[in-house]
Amino acid sequence: MVVPDVVGHDDPFPNAHAPALRDSPFLRACRREPVPHTPVWFMRQAGRSLPEYLRVREGVPMLESCTRPDMIVEITSQPVRRYAVDAAIFYSDIMVPLKAIGVDLDIKPGVGPVIADPIRDAAGLGVLRPLEPDDVPYVTEAVGGLVGELGATPLIGFAGAPFTLASYLVEGGPSKNQERTKAMMYGAPDLWDALMGRLADLTIAFLKVQVAAGASAIQVFDSWVGAVAPQDYRESVLPHTSRIFDEIAGLGVPRIHFGVGTGELLGLMGEAGADVVGVDWRVPLDEAVRRVEPGKALQGNLDPSVLFAPWETVERRARDVLARGRTAEGHVFNLGHGVHPSTDPDVLARLADLVHEASTGE
Ligand code: CP3
Repeated sequence: MVVPDVVGHDDPFPNAHAPALRDSPFLRACRREPVPHTPVWFMRQAGRSLPEYLRVREGVPMLESCTRPDMIVEITSQPVRRYAVDAAIFYSDIMVPLKAIGVDLDIKPGVGPVIADPIRDAAGLGVLRPLEPDDVPYVTEAVGGLVGELGATPLIGFAGAPFTLASYLVEGGPSKNQERTKAMMYGAPDLWDALMGRLADLTIAFLKVQVAAGASAIQVFDSWVGAVAPQDYRESVLPHTSRIFDEIAGLGVPRIHFGVGTGELLGLMGEAGADVVGVDWRVPLDEAVRRVEPGKALQGNLDPSVLFAPWETVERRARDVLARGRTAEGHVFNLGHGVHPSTDPDVLARLADLVHEASTGE
């Protein structure tokens, strides 16, 4: 495995060391440094809203596409060609490392991840073995290819957080109420901790592969953790997420932590240790500033559904996000969750330009 170069011992983010990359607005904002304009990228910027994505993916199942380096490089690059975004996000899925260690799962179009044998007891944990870099050679190869292709545009690596991965594994698929997951968390705390521990190990290993291959930032997606009350987050989730951020801290790349419906958890998510806290569209960014401890940048948070309104509304709302984002120590503009598949790419293109124009020279 390639170990990232270390430029200097005093540098907290030594990995993104090429000057143009290091000084990119996205990485500067993550580090809470002054920026020439507010950086912007969109969760799910690569995907079904792009006709060129649909063409490349034709006839290739989702999980197979994530094992083909040429396809990963192409799909990751598509939104960077189309939009003035300040970062690329690696094309993969939170389920890829689970599949790579042999969990029998599929991603069903229009449904989401489906697990053949849900984990409901200690015996079920047996399938969760440690991930080795050799389990995901296509990730190492694709990240390496992308770093060359993207030049000064940073590449964000990512992984799913233990709670969100556990929810798929325990429920067997997408779930509204996370009933079985929470039943295990409340009623079988030892089993829960063992499951969360193994998933944290998996996440750490998957993130390390991406950073070692050249990713300049990472994002941990805890999409469904908003289902958990703050006290339960503190007791049953935070120890695992904070271990992930601790283990990645030494790699020298900014760490982003995002979840949906996490208004009541923002302070705790900050405590878990990331450099940047992602905010969904439900909490205005100036209020999020009050909820998250000092020393963090924020990312967010235009409601992705606003993109279906007339342009004047999109513009007014985007300017409002920028204005509130100015109260944060650093702000990365994003949507409050992923791009909806029926979004018009031209609106996203216009939005990226607007974010730059409206925030230049402040
Ligand atoms: O552009 C990007 O954001 C990069 C790629 C990316 C994908 N999945 C590709 C994908 C990322 C960052 C993810 C993360 C992911 N996957 C999350 C966390 C982010 C979030 O949205 O909250 C979650 C919960 C998953 C699990 C998952 N995978 C779901 C719920 C789905 C959608 C199922 C459906 O059809 O509605 C997927 C499939 C998926 N992952 C697609 C893409 C582009 C669509 C697959 C297709 O083209 O058929």
